[in-house]
Amino acid sequence: MPQELIVGLDIGTTKVCAVVGEVREQQVDIVGLGVAPTAGGLRKGVVVNIDHTVRAIRKAVEEAENMAGCEIRSVYTGVAGTHIQGVSSHGVIVIKDREVNQSDVDRVIDSARLMVSIPSDRTVIHTLVQDFMIDGQDGIKDPVGIHGLRLECRVHIVTGANTALNNIYKCVNKANLEVSGIALQSLAAGEAVLTDEERALGVALIDFGGGTTDLAIFTGNSLKHNAVIPVGGNNLTNDIAVGLQTSLANAEQVKKEYGCCLNALEEEGETLEIPGLGGRKSRNLTRRELAEIIDLRLMEVLELIAKEINRGGHGNPVLAGTVITGGSALVAGLPELVDQTLHLPSRVGYPLVAGGLADVIQNPAYATGVGLVLYGFRKQLQQYSPNSWWPSRRRGGRVGLWGRIKKWFQEVK
Ligand SMILES: Nc1ncnc2c1ncn2[C@@H]1O[C@H](COP(=O)(O)OP(=O)(O)OP(=O)(O)O)[C@@H](O)[C@H]1O
Ligand SMILES: [Mg+2]
Repeated sequence: MPQELIVGLDIGTTKVCAVVGEVREQQVDIVGLGVAPTAGGLRKGVVVNIDHTVRAIRKAVEEAENMAGCEIRSVYTGVAGTHIQGVSSHGVIVIKDREVNQSDVDRVIDSARLMVSIPSDRTVIHTLVQDFMIDGQDGIKDPVGIHGLRLECRVHIVTGANTALNNIYKCVNKANLEVSGIALQSLAAGEAVLTDEERALGVALIDFGGGTTDLAIFTGNSLKHNAVIPVGGNNLTNDIAVGLQTSLANAEQVKKEYGCCLNALEEEGETLEIPGLGGRKSRNLTRRELAEIIDLRLMEVLELIAKEINRGGHGNPVLAGTVITGGSALVAGLPELVDQTLHLPSRVGYPLVAGGLADVIQNPAYATGVGLVLYGFRKQLQQYSPNSWWPSRRRGGRVGLWGRIKKWFQEVK
């Protein structure tokens, strides 16, 4: 059985967040949360200052330990940044005994991996199986036991720069923690905010964080394409600070309190007083002007996302639309702006959890942290039962396990 506590550690550009999940009666309850500002430890999703990052990890973990009343020794953590690359590959083997067994499955996945040359400065983070084909028949999720001559599989391989990955390990270890596993942040966020139907039909998950905006396209229950755009909520704050000649702290506060997209403007004439820099006199700004600054930057990001969806969406239609998560998903009017620019129905993705911490954790900024717990849970289940099924999620978030079996667990890492 999976161990009782599973901890997700999301090391983000603006904050580190530790989420403690407790496996209880075949469900995962979130029982602890700790958050600490990264304070310059990361830039655009990548560690740039070890000491600052370690300090933030310790602080977030201590807070989560206090809340959960436990000692945290190991964590599942995430990775992001523009060094991440995804590539599709295809493997083919001859089925030795004319009936597929587990070693054939392992071999065909290996052959798909070998078809792609991975430079020595990169590491494979995930090899995600899309589907298998036997003698040309595609769409097979579980090939074991099927008769045939030729076994093929399609995989999506996610790699990252060794240096960036090593720095994550280094920070976690220096904070006296072990790394139980590492996952692409957007893959983890998908675990927390997407429904089974969306993953099956096709969905574009947009994690609009502080430093980066990550895109992950899922169809047929698996990740098909991923991309990282090096623009996030911090750029919005920066634009506001430059536009209004005020400090980043003021700009951040104004953004959170009054910022919205043009489509969500209610009192456009309302004037805000923005303190000037270094004792300069304050400036007045209408809410419409603020919304224009925000819209301009968001449109730029969405244009880049649209290009990526077209690139990665080739043959992978996102029929269910988009789900926006990450802290910047809270900008009022963003789903409508996404609807208008991408012509896809959108919603904000809140982590699906229940229990005592439900209202605290139901914030899109915690999607990756919660997702890492669910990812860890999935990994542990697979350890105990390699051909296990991935449990479906009840809306409201607790993970129903054995009794709510739904889908073939098609991911191999
Ligand atoms: N209510 C709000 N309105 C607008 N923006 C918000 C709001 N709350 C948070 N944000 C923005 O969300 C961003 C942080 O999001 P999040 O916590 O998902 O980022 P992160 O995980 O630290 O960074 P990344 O994933 O890019 O590495 C910040 O830019 C913050 O200003
Ligand atoms: Mg993030």
